[in-house]
Amino acid sequence: MNNLLELNHVSKRFGGLVALKEVSMHIPEQAIVGLIGPNGAGKTTLFNIITGLYRPDQGELLLRHQPLPVGMPHKIAQHGIARTFQNIRLFNNLTVLENILVGRHMRSQASVLGAILNTKRTRLEEKNIREKALFFLNYVGLTHRAHDYAKVLSYGDQRRLEIARALATEPQLLALDEPAAGMNIKERNDLALLIQQIQQDGTAVLVIEHDVKWIMSLCQHITVLNFGEVIAAGDPHAVQNHPKVIEAYLGKGQHHAA
Ligand SMILES: Nc1ncnc2c1ncn2[C@@H]1O[C@H](COP(=O)(O)OP(=O)(O)OP(=O)(O)O)[C@@H](O)[C@H]1O
Ligand SMILES: [Mg+2]
Repeated sequence: MNNLLELNHVSKRFGGLVALKEVSMHIPEQAIVGLIGPNGAGKTTLFNIITGLYRPDQGELLLRHQPLPVGMPHKIAQHGIARTFQNIRLFNNLTVLENILVGRHMRSQASVLGAILNTKRTRLEEKNIREKALFFLNYVGLTHRAHDYAKVLSYGDQRRLEIARALATEPQLLALDEPAAGMNIKERNDLALLIQQIQQDGTAVLVIEHDVKWIMSLCQHITVLNFGEVIAAGDPHAVQNHPKVIEAYLGKGQHHAA
């Protein structure tokens, strides 16, 4: 299968700390790819590079074989890469629907002047944006919460709302930074189903998660980072049994005692 996104030898340092070292990985079209690794391994840093919040010090990113602009979040979003954050970033005092409208507006052609003049075209676009927002609200199962403030939603629903907002930009790649964190078992199972639905509808998903069992059953391909380096990559079975992965998760020698 063709690669949607390819990272070649991407490195990033913060002062003396090497957060990512020569990381190469790929995300096939329409795949669900997992990114795992211990705390501080560099997973979020990698997301920040893919989505343009950080510039890599070295290396290249290719989207469908074309260089992806680096360090420009807005441009990268326009190229069809959307994300959620490890720490939920919703507008607490906006409603659920309004939170999605914020995301949709990025795709809109409606000009500021058009908005001021309240032209017919602008009104039509506003209507389209609203319909799309409602569509994605329904997609994640939050239609009944549309007019509630985001802050009153359960943790699990807030995470689903973040996903809806990212989906509303109609991305080719959806990057989810620990979307299952803080969810109970039912919420986790539902989330896995939602991610599979997103994949079936044609969007590739890159997902970070600490629950190895959950991610193994969800992903076709997994990349493992440890201290900023890729220590294993491949299908879940191969990765799970990789000696370096066992060592990284359990510590040297620990697995003998387990
Ligand atoms: N903006 C920054 N400035 C300085 N150091 C940073 C910055 N961002 C990340 N780091 C450091 O880079 C390393 C990798 O951090 P990162 O957040 O990418 O890890 P992670 O794999 O996402 O960890 P976790 O599972 O805890 O979320 C850590 O040592 C972290 O302290
Ligand atoms: Mg992180």
